[in-house]
Order: sequence, then structure tokens, then C-alpha cells
Amino acid sequence: MFRKHHIFWALAPFMAISLAGGDPKTLIVFDTIDCAIKSSVFSKVVCQLYSRTEFTVFLTVGERKQADKVYGDCEVKLFPKRQKKITRINNLRLDFCQLKKHSESRSMLGMYYLAIRRSIVGFPKKCPFKKNTTYGIKRLHFDWQEVPQYLPETNYTFRGKIYANDELGLEIKVTGGYFKVANDAAYRKPLL
Ligand SMILES: *[C@@H]1O[C@H](CO)[C@@H](O)[C@H](O)[C@H]1NC(C)=O
Ligand SMILES: *[C@@H]1O[C@H](CO)[C@@H](O)[C@H](O)[C@H]1NC(C)=O
Repeated sequence: MFRKHHIFWALAPFMAISLAGGDPKTLIVFDTIDCAIKSSVFSKVVCQLYSRTEFTVFLTVGERKQADKVYGDCEVKLFPKRQKKITRINNLRLDFCQLKKHSESRSMLGMYYLAIRRSIVGFPKKCPFKKNTTYGIKRLHFDWQEVPQYLPETNYTFRGKIYANDELGLEIKVTGGYFKVANDAAYRKPLL
């Protein structure tokens, strides 16, 4: 009895090390982010990578009108390693007025909602978003535990068209990859 515990504690430090640094993890990594205002619904946007696995968006609603019916119409293109075929995933609709409602976690949309919900700053409980006010999505990231670990490695482009008041207000483009990394801490280091 005593001996068993002894062995356990002797091994514990090694187990901790293997959990922290060991097995490769499949991550969603960001290479670039670009944002462009498309109409006066929004007056300003700041998009930047915080690290290779986190990005931040600050978006200001225009001075004239509050923003209602805010949603994203998104498309993902996958460029898998060693394959010519491109896979396109269309019609991913993110409803920013209903962030709380959606919780389907075992899908791409569910993964997006989870990541968005934990990174929002100052969002209203319900729509509209107030005019002349800045809202943030801060250090958005996907935890490796939430990302499927067994799919083929791929690069991707993500395009989101953000609509408000039935008008296209903003376009976001993110490029990056989904691949195995041995040392994920390196990908969490701030870039600035
Ligand atoms: C993904 O893109 C990077 C750089 O843009 C490239 O070096 C790499 O080979 C690409 N990987 C795949 C899986 O296409
Ligand atoms: C909008 O906000 C800015 C800074 O918060 C302020 O200086 C400006 O007067 C505001 N404009 C209106 C129309 O309320």
C-alpha cells in the first residue's frame, strides 16, 4: 500500500511534464487577418493577430443609427495538404443577436459560437448594438480540446460578411492552417 503511493508520487512529475509539453496537438492557427468597412453602418474597425492562435477585433457602430439584425454570412475554403481538391463550406451563418442561444458544440458553427462567446467585450444582452459604441472580440481562440484532432492537415481561408440593418457593413478575411504542432506554447506567444 505504502509502496504503491510512493511509486505514484515518484512518477507524478513525469506525468505532468508529458501532459504539458509532450504529444503533438492539432491546432487552428492564424496567419493573417484583414478587415474592411463596407458601409456607414460601422464607422471603424481594428483587426489584429495577438498571437498565432488568437485574434482581436474592435468594431464601432456608426454615429447615425444603432445596429440591429447583426449577423455574419461566412464561407470557409480548405486547401488540404498534398491534394489538389479545394473544399468549400458555405452558408455558415453566425447570429450575433442570438449568441447565447446556440450551443451545438460538435460542429464548425458550434465551435465558432463557443470561441466568440468567451471573447466578447461589452456586447449587449440583446440587440440592438448602440450607435457610436465600440464592441470587441478579444483574443479569440480555439482550445485544442475543442478542435477535432484526427482530420487531415489543411490550410484554409475564412471570409465573413457582417450584415447589420440588412446592409453589408464589414468583411473579415482570415487565413491560416490546421495542423499538428509539438510545442503549442510557441503559437501562443504575443506577436507584438
Ligand atoms: C500552408 O501554407 C503555408 C504557408 O502559407 C505553407 O508553407 C504550407 O505548406 C501550407 N500547408 C498546406 C497543408 O497546404
Ligand atoms: C461619438 O463618440 C465620440 C467618442 O466617444 C464622441 O467624441 C462623439 O461626439 C460622439 N458622436 C456622437 C454623434 O454622439
